[in-house]
Amino acid sequence: MGHDKTLTKAAEQVEAVLQGETRPPCVKAFFDEPTFTASYVVHDPATKVAAIIDSVLDFDHAAGRTTFASADMIIDYVVAEGLSVTWLLETHAHADHLSAAPYLKDKLGGTLAIGREIAHVQNVFGKIFNEGSAFARDGSQFDRLFEDGDRFAIGGIEAIALHVPGHTPADLAYVIGDAVFTGDTLFMPDYGTARADFPGGDSRQLFRSIRQLMTLPDRTRLFHCHDYKAAGRDAFVWESTVGAQRVGNVHVHEGVNEDDFVAMRDARDATLPMPKLILPSIQVNMRGGRLPEPEANGTRYLKLPLNVL
Ligand SMILES: [Fe+2]
Repeated sequence: MGHDKTLTKAAEQVEAVLQGETRPPCVKAFFDEPTFTASYVVHDPATKVAAIIDSVLDFDHAAGRTTFASADMIIDYVVAEGLSVTWLLETHAHADHLSAAPYLKDKLGGTLAIGREIAHVQNVFGKIFNEGSAFARDGSQFDRLFEDGDRFAIGGIEAIALHVPGHTPADLAYVIGDAVFTGDTLFMPDYGTARADFPGGDSRQLFRSIRQLMTLPDRTRLFHCHDYKAAGRDAFVWESTVGAQRVGNVHVHEGVNEDDFVAMRDARDATLPMPKLILPSIQVNMRGGRLPEPEANGTRYLKLPLNVL
């Protein structure tokens, strides 16, 4: 279906929950302070079927060691609530944390999904990391590649994948009942928006994607992938609404025009250092969260391209 039709469908789905015709999903957030990432378990209270969104694999960069405390907290919650996991959803190939999706899939099951445009990201970074032909650039490391408008279900709750490029070319927002998991397409109103200067990013596309999310009903619940505590705020928060964003987002509230946003975003991005974990994160996440294959001595290695980013 065309993109406008996708948005209409998403709005209808949200409205059905707001009108009490269908039930809302339960959403539980897990906030990882070292990477400022919010991961989510979202489930259908009637069927206990769940999806895990944007999980975090703990990574000690100095030691080159991966651990599982954050992922295990999610597993403990899933087990305690008696949930069965059918989806492991990634909003995009993250540049600031490693995904724990393969670990969670191993322990809990579920179909690992991301946007179809991941192939584009794999192409760009496959070159940057000088990957050989063993690294497939067709998204085949994932079980399911969503296109804009693809519909799926979490138990009895309807869901729809919305292509929201800008932060990266592959970003998806997942509309699940009345809840939208925005990834890095929007942050809390007082913090604003994510950078759009990674390879393949585009601030103009980001603006348009955000404006599309803002066409959803005001009471649509939004769940963001990160929070960095805006100036003057003491606590981490990760949930807002479309209405709150339209009125109050410091970068992109209603009335801000596209060219002004692009100028602001590009100027700001030009001052930002690369995220601390971008090189490890992308190398792992472009493989669906799997670590590179071991070398002849049995050890796995990450590469550090010099003077490229
Ligand atoms: Fe991101």
